[in-house]
Amino acid sequence: MWGGRFAAQPASAMQAINASIDVDKRLWREDIEGSKAHAAMLAAQGIITAEDNAAIQAGLDQIAAEIVEGTFQFSAELEDIHLNIEARLTERIGEAGKRLHTGRSRNDQVATDFKLWTMRASREAADGLRVLQKALLKQAEAHAEWVMPGFTHLQTAQPITLGHHLLAYVTMLERDRVRIIGGALEAAWECPLGAAALAGTSYRIDREATAHALGFHAPAGNSLDAVGSRDFALAALSNLSIAITHLSRLAEEIVLWTSPQFGFARLSDAWSTGSSIMPQKRNPDAAELVRAKAARIGADFAALNAIVQKLPLAYAKDLQEDKALTFSAFDNFALSVTAMIGMIETMRFNRETMRAAAAKGYSTATDLADWLVRELRVPFREAHEITGRIVRVAEDAGVAELAHLPLSEFQAVDPRITEAARALLTVEKSVESRDSYGGTAPQRVREQIERWKETFK
Ligand code: ARG
Repeated sequence: MWGGRFAAQPASAMQAINASIDVDKRLWREDIEGSKAHAAMLAAQGIITAEDNAAIQAGLDQIAAEIVEGTFQFSAELEDIHLNIEARLTERIGEAGKRLHTGRSRNDQVATDFKLWTMRASREAADGLRVLQKALLKQAEAHAEWVMPGFTHLQTAQPITLGHHLLAYVTMLERDRVRIIGGALEAAWECPLGAAALAGTSYRIDREATAHALGFHAPAGNSLDAVGSRDFALAALSNLSIAITHLSRLAEEIVLWTSPQFGFARLSDAWSTGSSIMPQKRNPDAAELVRAKAARIGADFAALNAIVQKLPLAYAKDLQEDKALTFSAFDNFALSVTAMIGMIETMRFNRETMRAAAAKGYSTATDLADWLVRELRVPFREAHEITGRIVRVAEDAGVAELAHLPLSEFQAVDPRITEAARALLTVEKSVESRDSYGGTAPQRVREQIERWKETFK
């Protein structure tokens, strides 16, 4: 491709470090699209003839067919997808193929291809999250009023409903979706094609035409920025990284919930693995791997960020490594979402175990304090103190739940406490009472379920 300037062949390790075809062949579709738009524009501007354009369009279509059929020969000597396709085009159509690279460079070409790819992949990632949200919503609806312990510091805090807990993830994933789609579209606003190597070009090209043909909103207004920036990919990776952080927390809860110690849930056989030595085991490997994938995607972001931050403007070959990191992040993300969907759809919950755990640790103590405030107008700090003493009495007496402590024991601490107060201390009454907007009460959970159903329509 640049034989004119050199007398000798590159070292073989030079080729090994330089070639990116094994990775960037994945951009073939975008590369062909970009080339077709560019050639059509060159012809419309009278820079190449209509005949040359027709030959280029047909040649590129045939190359696309070869790639789909698997007959296209990718060659490392031709470095990357851009040179592979261009060389094959010239092989097929002759001289017209050599005119395609007029008024552009691989620098604006790769920035355009990669932006298109990232934009599309982001949309698919967001679609995957929607499917997961629907699976979570379905489980939330089936378990809207099932009681489980709510934790802070992983210490039993207050009873909550399982529906409420699952909807927390639906809510987080909605923000993730918005971030992923919003980020992708915003960052891809401007089309790099026509920025050429770095400075623009002296040909009378029509950048509006190529930008619009490829679905961009406008041509990029600064050619150095257009070829030298990768913040669209950084934004995509950071968005994925935040989203998979949420998946990783859910994965962590699946690991906890399915342990014999918690016993809250059971993964289906399809989403469990056995042990080679311990026959009783049902391991949550997929959930554990989602946690590990989260670490990797965060590292992909960190790596690309580190690559870009030391580069003087405009393009440098360091940027070639952007694709392996980005492809890997999107692949791991998609796989993780698929695994989460499978686990959530088929997970079964254990109502009795969750309820019993919710009642442990005097989880309804706050309800008693709230009763003292509401009914007796006791200041909250004082109510806290009285309730604390009652918890100590129950603990000393070996009574595990406040609702099971005899009324006389309550009254020994504060004679004003009535049976009506004691009756409020079951986990069911407790969750029912937390009916403020966004609270855990089954009625509020159902309200949110309806809202999400409306959103997902
Ligand atoms: N394969 C290259 C990349 O992905 C394409 C751009 C090459 N540009 C250059 N000036 N060598 O970055």
